[in-house]
Amino acid sequence: MTGATGNVGRMVVDELLALGATDIRALTVDPVKANLPAGVEVARGFVGRPETLTDALAGVDRMYLAPHPASAFEVCRLAAQAGVRVIVDMAGAKGEHWQVVEDAVEASGVPWTHLEPGEFMANADLWAPQIRSGDVVRDAFGDVVNAPVAQEDIAAVAARVLLSDGHLGKAYELTGPQALSRREKVAAIGRALGRELTYVELTGDEARDQFTATMGEYGQWYLDGLAQLLEYPQPAVSTVADLLGRPATTYEEWARSHADLFR
Ligand SMILES: NC(=O)c1ccc[n+]([C@@H]2O[C@H](COP(=O)([O-])OP(=O)(O)OC[C@H]3O[C@@H](n4cnc5c(N)ncnc54)[C@H](OP(=O)(O)O)[C@@H]3O)[C@@H](O)[C@H]2O)c1
Repeated sequence: MTGATGNVGRMVVDELLALGATDIRALTVDPVKANLPAGVEVARGFVGRPETLTDALAGVDRMYLAPHPASAFEVCRLAAQAGVRVIVDMAGAKGEHWQVVEDAVEASGVPWTHLEPGEFMANADLWAPQIRSGDVVRDAFGDVVNAPVAQEDIAAVAARVLLSDGHLGKAYELTGPQALSRREKVAAIGRALGRELTYVELTGDEARDQFTATMGEYGQWYLDGLAQLLEYPQPAVSTVADLLGRPATTYEEWARSHADLFR
C-alpha cells in the first residue's frame, strides 16, 4: 500500500482489514506518526524517492498505488523488477493531470486495474471557511455540473478490487450517484447543517483571485477544469454500485456525515 496514511489510502487499509486481509504492508515516511492499525506491517519509504522502496517492494504480490505523477514511471519499473503481480492504481479521470500514473503502470508490464475517480466530494472543504463564518458562499461556475464521488467509496472499491479477481486490464471510472451543480451541492451542505446558504456567483477576476488565494498554483487549473465542465458536464456512472453491490454514497449522505467540517 502506498499513500497508506492519505485520505483515501488510510481508508483502503481499513477496508482491507474489514475484508479479512492479513498480509498488508503499508508505506510511510514516518512509521510512528503513521499510527497504522495493529496487524499492518509498516515499511519506511516514500514513492517520491523511489530509491527508498527496495525493502518495501520485496515480496509484494498486489500493490495499491496512490498518485505521485513525478516518480510514477520509476516506481512502477521497480515494482515490476520486484515481481509485483498486480498494480491497482488510483489516479484520476482519464486524460487529466494524473494520466501519467496510468501510462507508467501500463509501461511497467505489470497487470493492472485503473481506478479513475472524478472530483472528490471532500473538495467541498474549499467552502468550509466561508460556511463556518456565515451563510453566504461566494464561488464560481455555480451551474457547472459533475458527479463527485465519496473517498469512502473509492477506498471500498480499491480494497475489493485488490482482493478479488476479474479486474485485470479494466479501467473503472468512479463517480457519485448523481450529477449536481455547485449551487446544488452548497444547498445540500446547508440542509445537512439545518441552514439556508446563499450562493453568490463571483466574476471571472474575483474567482481567479479567490481560487489562487485558497489553492495556490492549482487555483487557475481548477477554474480551467470548471470551465471545461461547463461545456461537458460529467454524468454519473454506476461503477461504484456495480462493484460494491450497494448504492454509492449520495452527496446528501456525505454532507450529513461530514457536517462537522462546516461547523
Ligand atoms: N481531489 C480530487 O478531486 C481528486 C480527484 C482525483 C484524484 N485526486 C488525487 O488523489 C490523491 C488522494 O489523496 P489522498 O489524500 O488520499 O493521499 P495520497 O496522495 O493518496 O497519499 C498521500 C500520502 O502520501 C505520502 N506522502 C509523503 N510525502 C508526500 C508528498 N510530498 N506528496 C504526496 N504524498 C506524500 C504521505 O504518507 P506518509 O507521510 O505516511 O509517507 C501521505 O499521507 C491525491 O494525490 C489527489 O491529487 C484528487
